[in-house]
Amino acid sequence: MSEPSLPTSQSSTAKQSGLFIVIEGIDGTGKSTQAKRLGEWLASQGREVVLSREPTAGPWGKKVRESAATGRLSPEEELQYFLNDRRQHVEELIAPSLAAGKVVILDRYYFSTMAYQGARGFDPAEIRRKNEEFAPVPDLLLIMDLDVDSALERIGARGDTANEFEKRENLERCREIFLSLKDEGFVRVIDTRGTLDEVAARVREAVGSHLV
Ligand code: TYD
Repeated sequence: MSEPSLPTSQSSTAKQSGLFIVIEGIDGTGKSTQAKRLGEWLASQGREVVLSREPTAGPWGKKVRESAATGRLSPEEELQYFLNDRRQHVEELIAPSLAAGKVVILDRYYFSTMAYQGARGFDPAEIRRKNEEFAPVPDLLLIMDLDVDSALERIGARGDTANEFEKRENLERCREIFLSLKDEGFVRVIDTRGTLDEVAARVREAVGSHLV
């Protein structure tokens, strides 16, 4: 179920410990592109990189993805499916990769549950607590930030006024929850305005300063 694996190469230096980097943000902030570019950059420096994402391609992840087309699950079910998906992801890919000293880069993790299921009415702090019972806290959390109007423009969101308003409100709330984490020591907020190259440079800078 993993979607890992950029080309990797062995480091010639002493064994390095695992590094866990998570990339989060609302839809349209360019997470996936930047996760991939960061992975390539770290691999070019001789780190063994595992790139993965949530929801995963596993059975629980599939069910939540399908629900986007077939009708949204109840809030309780949806939350539970994301937790089940993550538990499996941690057990099968994240924990073993970190234990083997690899760099793990995730495109979405439990901060997305705090934001999106938080926006659906659950308490973000409670969601966090539930996740941290089994999910390792990353070394570095990059929050890809963009105002909601620009994000909606980027994903070309359409729909009637009411729907778009709903979606806008929802994403505003998600963004707010992500940004509520900004002062924690392991968090860096990345401004995603500008070109992909400019944003990639900001990401590398944040990771580089974290690595030293
Ligand atoms: P997304 O990363 O956009 O996947 P894709 O590019 O395949 O559509 O994730 C799908 C949606 O799932 C996204 O809108 C955010 C949502 N999501 C949650 O609501 N809770 C979660 O815990 C996670 C990981 C994602």
